[in-house]
Parts: sequence; C-alpha cells; structure tokens
Amino acid sequence: MSTAKKEYKRITVKSLTEMKSRGEKISMLTAYDYTMAQIVDGAGIDVILVGDSASNVMAGHETTLPITLDQMIYHASSVVRGISRSLVVVDLPFGSYQSDPKEALRSAIRIMKESGGHSIKLEGGKEVKESIKRILNAGIPVMGHLGLTPQSIYKFGTYTVRAKEEEEAQKLKDDALMLERAGCFAIVLEKVPAKLAQEVAESLTIPVIGIGAGAGVDGQVLVTHDMLGMTHEFNPRFLRRYLDMHTAMTQAFRQYSHDVKSQDFPNDEEQY
Ligand code: KIV
Repeated sequence: MSTAKKEYKRITVKSLTEMKSRGEKISMLTAYDYTMAQIVDGAGIDVILVGDSASNVMAGHETTLPITLDQMIYHASSVVRGISRSLVVVDLPFGSYQSDPKEALRSAIRIMKESGGHSIKLEGGKEVKESIKRILNAGIPVMGHLGLTPQSIYKFGTYTVRAKEEEEAQKLKDDALMLERAGCFAIVLEKVPAKLAQEVAESLTIPVIGIGAGAGVDGQVLVTHDMLGMTHEFNPRFLRRYLDMHTAMTQAFRQYSHDVKSQDFPNDEEQY
C-alpha cells in the first residue's frame, strides 16, 4: 500500500531553532479544540499552544489555576487530532508540577502519552529547574515561560507589566539563561518591557516567543479567541484584533433566532 506524499513539512522543535538562526519569525496561537486547531494549522501557524488559558476562555474561570491535568489532556488530544503541520505545545497546569520533579515528570508523561502532544510548557525559572531537567531526561521537549506567569497571579496580585525594575529584570535574564542551559527548546516571555525582551532574545540561541514583549523577539503568540475578537472585555495594549467575531456571531445568532421565530427557517429547500 502506498501512502500519499505529504506536501507540508512538519514543524519540530529543531525547525524553530533553525527559523531563529535564519531570522524567520515564529507564529504561535492557542487552540483548545479540534475545529479551531484544524483552521489554525491549515493557515500555516507554526506552533499551536494548548494553553491553560483554556481555564479562562473555555471554562470561564477568573484565573488559570482551576484547570486540571485531565482537562488539559482532553483539550490537547482534541487539538492533536486536528493538526497535520504545526508543533503542539501543551501547558502543564497549576498543581501538576510544582510539588516535586517526579510529579512534574509523571504529569508530562501523561500529557505526551494520553494527548499525543509534541512538547510541554511550564512557568517559572530556577524554582522549577530540577523538574525541567527530569522531564528533558525522559526525552520530552520543554518550553519555558517567564515574565508574567499567570499561575502565580496571587503572589503578584496584578496582571501588570513585569520586570520593570532592575532586580526583577536581572532575575529574568538569569532564569532565561538557565532555561537555555537546562535544555529548553524555546521560552515564552509574557508582558515585559520590549527592550528587556530583545536583550534576552539576542543573548540566547533558542527562540524567545513574546506576548506583550515587543517586536525584538523571535516570534509572537496570542490567544486565538482574543485576536479573533470573540472576547470583548480583555483589552490589553499588546492585543491586535484581526476580526470582530463577537459582533459577527451576535448578528448571526440574532438573525437565526429571528428566522426561527418568523418561520423563515427552514424553507422548502432546507428540508427533506
Ligand atoms: O495559556 C496561555 O494561553 C499562555 C499564553 C498566554 C502564552 O500561556
């Protein structure tokens, strides 16, 4: 039996480093379900993040803390079934890796085995170094996440820009270097000054992917529901909306309701 020759080239963790070295920017978006993943992948986005932002976007929680490992695996496996080219990164949720490196490895293995995702992401610097090493030793690629780390929201108290002061900026630079040396394949930098983010990106060989971190990094990530304008209340400065889906969907739902009530839908061609 012959298999059809695929025309696309799958994105791997190695492709991302190659993209950085040839100066090609990396595109990354979130997805939490099969249908969205198919569209994002089909549009040529390099990396799909099954973010724990699913806790906010899909489940309506105020923070990312409540989402469970089982729920992340459900979202990730739905996404994996929808993709053919993008690299899939899955967030380790809050509480699945902080207590000790063995637990972190167990959680990462569950994600890889049960969802088919290609790599995991976790938040933090030197506090999670041993966990990162243990996960990497098992052959699981790890993406770091520094700057605004939403799983620590109650420690910081606000979602404001991080690392504006010298001490925090220096810790971020040290953590970024540690993540590269430990073997992470990339780092997300969230909501930090553009100048600092550029400095970090230029000092590392692994890609730095920014969200609210300016243009001097190696790629950009946004939450898909935000950039599509499905969410209305969230308006940070860094967010560019490419559509106003909230308005378009509301109009469609209103029209549908009107058509049902006025008995315009279904018409003669729309029935058997
Ligand atoms: O969970 C998420 O969507 C994220 C991005 C904001 C980077 O971690």
